[in-house]
Amino acid sequence: MPDKKFVLITGAGKGLGKAFARQCAEMGFNLILLALPGENTHSLARHIQHQFEVAVLVYELDMCDEQILADTLKEIRDRYQVFFLINNAGIGGTASITTTSFQALDRIISLNVKAGVQVTTAMIPVLSQFTESYILNVASMAAFAPIAYKTVYPASKAFIASFSMGLREELKGQGVSVSILYPGPIMTNCNVSGRILAQGFVARLGLINTDAIARAAIRKCLNKKARIVPGIWNRVTAKLLEWLPADTALHLISSSVKRELSYNF
Ligand SMILES: NC(=O)c1ccc[n+]([C@@H]2O[C@H](COP(=O)([O-])OP(=O)(O)OC[C@H]3O[C@@H](n4cnc5c(N)ncnc54)[C@H](OP(=O)(O)O)[C@@H]3O)[C@@H](O)[C@H]2O)c1
Repeated sequence: MPDKKFVLITGAGKGLGKAFARQCAEMGFNLILLALPGENTHSLARHIQHQFEVAVLVYELDMCDEQILADTLKEIRDRYQVFFLINNAGIGGTASITTTSFQALDRIISLNVKAGVQVTTAMIPVLSQFTESYILNVASMAAFAPIAYKTVYPASKAFIASFSMGLREELKGQGVSVSILYPGPIMTNCNVSGRILAQGFVARLGLINTDAIARAAIRKCLNKKARIVPGIWNRVTAKLLEWLPADTALHLISSSVKRELSYNF
């Protein structure tokens, strides 16, 4: 398929990544989907192919495995024209640091930070071949402030935001536009939904439908917007966080997140 243009979406088997895949297909874009091994992504691909008549390729791998990811990216780079990269794969969680294994924290860093940088740097040469191309990096509202009981996750998302802003400046002469998406809470799966409900009323104010977030993010990214914060409540919160003293923000958010510890995962 040398003449076809593709969108590469990581973590596309479910949640926000699946919504990105469906919205991109609806816009007529061909897809390359990366997700963990399992039946889910192949059946999603068949469904999308049938419904939207676009090409959909699936690569199932653990993106935390640096060598397997490198081999997969080389194959994609050698065979396909990718004009749009959506770095969506990401994991988090809420737990006291004293009860969390280093392995669990390392997996968050490996996927959110290391794999994100690995995919991006591998694809820049392909993206740069187009007059206009796009990278959408999925951060989180958690990137705006440190949070107790999540510690590594907000730090990883702050990394993504900082990395993306630097990249945007560096690549603007090469026609590659980089956007950062800062979603608030999204009910993408049972685990996340349980945690959001445990946080109470204020967390629920920022809730937006997954498809609506994906649709708006793609549109704004293609319009080359630098920072995308979906939803008015989340935009107000983001402004408040700029204005509040850092210690106050840390305390307020952490107190709310602490309620998630009572949720039985
Ligand atoms: N949900 C929220 O409230 C929220 C809020 C702010 C930001 N975000 C961010 O939005 C993004 C998507 O979140 P989500 O809630 O949609 O997540 P999700 O429902 O857990 O989906 C995560 C996707 O990533 C894939 N994945 C996980 N680990 C992987 C690995 N090691 N290698 C390859 N693929 C892997 C999963 O593959 P499988 O399908 O095979 O399991 C799945 O397709 C993440 O970056 C997250 O941090 C989410």
